Amino acid sequence: MDNAVSEIITKAGTDQAAADPVQNLGPDLADFRDEVWLGLGQAQKTLPSKFFYDELGSKLFDEITQLDQYYPTRTETKLLGTHAGAIASFMGTGATLVEFGAGSLIKIRILLEAMDRPQAFVPIDISKEHLILSADQLALEFPHIQVRPVVADFASALDFGALVADSNSKRIGFFPGSTIGNFAHDAAVTLLATIGEVVGSGGELLIGVDLKKDNKILLDAYNDSQGVTADFNRNLLVRINRELGGNFDLGTFRHHAPYNADEGRIEMHLVSGADQTVNVAGKDFVFTEGETIHTENSYKYGIDEFLALASEAGFDPVQTWTDQDDLFSIHYLRAR
Ligand code: TRP
Repeated sequence: MDNAVSEIITKAGTDQAAADPVQNLGPDLADFRDEVWLGLGQAQKTLPSKFFYDELGSKLFDEITQLDQYYPTRTETKLLGTHAGAIASFMGTGATLVEFGAGSLIKIRILLEAMDRPQAFVPIDISKEHLILSADQLALEFPHIQVRPVVADFASALDFGALVADSNSKRIGFFPGSTIGNFAHDAAVTLLATIGEVVGSGGELLIGVDLKKDNKILLDAYNDSQGVTADFNRNLLVRINRELGGNFDLGTFRHHAPYNADEGRIEMHLVSGADQTVNVAGKDFVFTEGETIHTENSYKYGIDEFLALASEAGFDPVQTWTDQDDLFSIHYLRAR
């Protein structure tokens, strides 16, 4: 058990003021190495984006969400606040919420405050320290809700349904931040179908999805002028150097995030500024000048386009909300 969590549990005694002990099912160092070797060995080099979120990466991502140019977080948060009453009435009494990629647990507070006596909250996140701190804090603020954190890659093949382990409370997934946009079509359908299995037939999902829009707004959101997104992107290389004994020369890789209109996605790349060879955990990888590592995609959707994808995964639409400027959408869906 983790010290922070066990300490708080001990102090809290039986009044349920703290989060349950964290269930740690995240990838280990060997998984990280194998996935990095695999990605860098391909013709178009890739690195899996889930490894963005170590402690520093989670902090940098929180900084991104505060940037003026990064409109998704504030737009979605405002939408949740504006429609919290309607959302809470769909959710009903005594539900169990499961959040996929829980991050700093800011948005969930809006829902927990609006809901009628939620029974439990299961935040799933790959960023262990970040999750433990946020979950403990949340548990202290909501002493009547069971908070059961799970450290895991929510897109892995784990049996999250079993981890939720509630009695007969209605299950509702919460998947904000347009994280679904970080998966290509087939992977997105598979992931939503998995969430459908976790919540079960008649279970529900509240999901945030970024919308197609003017390219300039999109490009600014992923190429901020303070360079936070660039640091976040390069943090993958920092992690590889530190945790896998890599020797990436950080100064020679620059952030590049174009909009690919054919695919309807922002792409995140790291571009090598030189011909060079990089060693990672004993394996060499050759880069030519201008060659990129593709680190992330962020797909953008039209409303109907997204609802069609959700339907493929077994979800029926209940309600969709968007902001005045049609920047962002949130959808309440029900599993068939
Ligand atoms: N889900 C977020 C998005 O697609 C993740 C994200 C924001 C991101 N900025 C990023 C991922 C920069 C990689 C790099 O908007």
